[in-house]
Amino acid sequence: MMEDVPEREARSFETSDGDNIFVTQRDGAFYAYQNLCPHLQVELEYLENQFLDREQEYIECSTHGALFLVETGECISGPCQGQSLEKVDITVHSDGGIYLTEE
Ligand code: FES
Repeated sequence: MMEDVPEREARSFETSDGDNIFVTQRDGAFYAYQNLCPHLQVELEYLENQFLDREQEYIECSTHGALFLVETGECISGPCQGQSLEKVDITVHSDGGIYLTEE
């Protein structure tokens, strides 16, 4: 369903359920979250696929600059500090495609 998410970049996707999610790669592992800031429940990005901060170290909300850990989605700075992005379970198949994990 999805592929082509380079290291330290992110891509947004719409799931078949109509959910807005994004996937990012860090140190060879992929992480996916709902595209929803826990602060005001708005989408995180301002420009298409811009989910990371300038150093591409953290996930950043473009509205008030909250920073989230890539690996856990935990907010470590900003108005929603201590809250977390909602993680989405994904599976990487041997063909390189990234798929939502079926329940
Ligand atoms: S809406 Fe994301 S930090 Fe305020």
